[in-house]
Amino acid sequence: MTPHHFLTLLDLSSAELEQLLRRAIDLKTMHRLGEQYTPLRQRTMAMIFEKSSTRTRVSFEVGMSQLGGSSLFLSPRDTHLGRGEPIADTARVMSRMVDVIVIRANEHDMVARFAEHSLVPVINALTDRHHPCQLLADIQTYIEARGSIRGRTAAWIGDGNNVCHSWINAAKRFGFHLNIATPAGYQPSAEVLEASGDCVTLIRDPQEAARGADIVITDTWASMGQEDEKAQRLKDFSGYMVDRRLMQLAHKDALFMHCLPAYRGYEVEAAVIDGPQSVVWDEAENRLHAQKALLEYLLVPAGTGSQP
Ligand code: CP
Ligand code: NVA
Repeated sequence: MTPHHFLTLLDLSSAELEQLLRRAIDLKTMHRLGEQYTPLRQRTMAMIFEKSSTRTRVSFEVGMSQLGGSSLFLSPRDTHLGRGEPIADTARVMSRMVDVIVIRANEHDMVARFAEHSLVPVINALTDRHHPCQLLADIQTYIEARGSIRGRTAAWIGDGNNVCHSWINAAKRFGFHLNIATPAGYQPSAEVLEASGDCVTLIRDPQEAARGADIVITDTWASMGQEDEKAQRLKDFSGYMVDRRLMQLAHKDALFMHCLPAYRGYEVEAAVIDGPQSVVWDEAENRLHAQKALLEYLLVPAGTGSQP
């Protein structure tokens, strides 16, 4: 049987995603109450990371440990992948030994090819195209703070990058509208936009995008792998900082979100990210709870999830 992979948010239906986030909120409560819940005893998660990570690595490892399982972290230097062993062969071998494989890759195609040959679920922990795990945590954070996101308006200000692509998919699955303001040449991928139907409006002017929005989101102007473009990008993104003036155009109860790591004074003013509308620390914490719900969804057969 083909395993259920999680490479983009579109791999789950709206109903499945909504249920998963309800479960994430339950698991968070159980954790706060000190309840032990270890359905993944004797299960192992492999983590193949081609890029740096603080939040994703820590939240997956801690989450797996809290669920009773164990994890192994593999950088490109640790496996033969870094020496040219084919992705397909690595997937065939590793998936005979472990129960789930979490991959952070330079190229989305690497994760897709790995998944094609894996006998166990593969989770995308960020690629150049998507960051779906981030969006599980972000939507959980919105729901906890403000209730349902259906019918709301979010404003993405900055680069039309991997996280932006996952926000586009989230708009489709969770039923909200996304205004995207990017400088010329930094729009999100046409292919990703096409799959979103009419949930997205592309705008050049950040002020127009933020006006009346319920959430304002941004991300670094130079993602991992784009270090060489940094000087040019700093010029191109001038005028796209999320500052207090921009936040004042949004709804008075608007939240500010950022996946982190953040660069204060560039894509966001310190007074915004460290101010009262910012929920960035909740987003970061919710990586743990949302990914525990994801691991449970992928690895624990339906109906057995409540067994201690
Ligand atoms: N937001 C996020 O994925 O952070 P890391 O790169 O630290 O994992
Ligand atoms: N867009 C950023 C997100 C980091 C979590 C990057 O890819 O580096």
